Amino acid sequence: MNAEKKLQYSDFLIIGSGVAGLSFALKTANEFKNSTITIITKTDKNECNTKYAQGGISTVWDKTVDSFEQHIEDTLTAGDGLCDEKVVKMVVESAPDRLNELIKWGTKFDKTESGEYSLGREGGHSQDRVLHHKDITGAEIERALIARVEETKNITFLTHHYAIDLITEHQITKKKIKRKEKITCYGAYVLDEKKGVVKTFSSKITMLATGGNGQVYNTTTNPVVATGDGIAIAYRTKAEISDVEFIQFHPTALFNPGEYPAFLISEAVRGEGAILRDYYGKRFMKKYDKREELASRDIVARAIDNELKKSGTPHVYLDCTHLDFNSFEKHFPNITAKCLTLGIDVRKDFIPVSPAQHYICGGVNINKNGKTSIKNLYASGEVTRSGLHGANRLASNSLLEGLVFSHNACQNLKKRFSKIKEPQNIPVWNDSGVVKNMEKILITHDRNEVKTIMSNYVGIVRSNERLLRAERRLRVLYEDNKRLYDYSELSTDLCELRNLITTAYLITQFSKNRKENKGGFYSADLVNK
Ligand code: SIN
Repeated sequence: MNAEKKLQYSDFLIIGSGVAGLSFALKTANEFKNSTITIITKTDKNECNTKYAQGGISTVWDKTVDSFEQHIEDTLTAGDGLCDEKVVKMVVESAPDRLNELIKWGTKFDKTESGEYSLGREGGHSQDRVLHHKDITGAEIERALIARVEETKNITFLTHHYAIDLITEHQITKKKIKRKEKITCYGAYVLDEKKGVVKTFSSKITMLATGGNGQVYNTTTNPVVATGDGIAIAYRTKAEISDVEFIQFHPTALFNPGEYPAFLISEAVRGEGAILRDYYGKRFMKKYDKREELASRDIVARAIDNELKKSGTPHVYLDCTHLDFNSFEKHFPNITAKCLTLGIDVRKDFIPVSPAQHYICGGVNINKNGKTSIKNLYASGEVTRSGLHGANRLASNSLLEGLVFSHNACQNLKKRFSKIKEPQNIPVWNDSGVVKNMEKILITHDRNEVKTIMSNYVGIVRSNERLLRAERRLRVLYEDNKRLYDYSELSTDLCELRNLITTAYLITQFSKNRKENKGGFYSADLVNK
């Protein structure tokens, strides 16, 4: 792949265009009015996990019925003892301010007839506290933020630009750098897909806001762009990573074989009173948790998985037939319409559902200011491990996390941005090397193999033997991919495959090291210990 010889410079380089990336762009544009900000995103402006978020954003809005203490308690309970309590408190207490800002930026949340914000409930929440826009909250947030970004002069928004790797001392000194050494980020090498060239972006600050990695599994609610790029590129620069074994499986994705990614039936539907029934119509959640359908996600997903394994049936059902249809349709127009396209009338038919990968709770370590272990590299949103989620994320805390850490990162930069020097002597992308004509189908086969390995061996229920199998198979894929990467023409598909293999391998390794079942990590070998 040819390299563009001219260096591109901007003060801030933001990788990713979900709520974390866009809100950081707006904040920095406002705070540092004379600075230049570039957002790069790998496909269209709004194609990211945020866009697919249905439920909403949790916040303590009505203090007469809810309190920060309760939101904190619910988050800690869902996190199964592994949250960082100080971080939880900080995030929960800053939520109302961040939500007000989102509203100021033009996001429309649903209101009741009396003009108050309508608050939904989801699994693990002891109160109604989820602000939402029908069942397309994420799409509404993207609409509002993108409109705002487009009218902000010092932001450049580049689509179909894919970050291959971060630029650090690795490229500048060409020396092998150890994980504990002091490393600084100076920007990123970026593939401009339309022009077919690799550009070198240098920046004072790089913000990693690349979202999740659902594509390592066969069944996921994540869009095809969610390939774990941020975790993998940060890992290659030797950034600290943790908690990636905590994978959240959403209990209720629509069972519709062949549909990809899986369509989500929002947890807010259970929040409205929908009931889970097994394949034969019998309720079962009482056996698993006293909160029944509103237990936290890890518990409900494992309960469904257990029912499916016991009965050998392909799905369970979500029963909404007893709910008031008018209010159901008003809150969930998208879900109602989607079901109808499959001949499911929620007034009289049960919705077939099964669990699907939905969220990764760990990732690149950040502190409360969004700083990673690499100097001048910040991160925010699903790509991170902030301490908020612990072993299992509480529903509707994820968009909130992105907003809070992007805000904190900007606040932190107020103190230090003026002292950061523009990077010098950044080498442009090295495009020398042998390019063999490799068949593209090999990439497709390998991508499918990663998904199958992870779904079979590193899914809802893991075991020592399964993890060993996954590890061995992923090693082979790693070697094959290395050869492909070294010799064939660089492409987004190839880089994504490299990142998928890396994140799959990390999830497997971290799972092997985890010695206690917690939240989104469960090994059959640890059950009775
Ligand atoms: C949902 O609507 O069920 C998803 C919300 C979330 O993942 O927080």
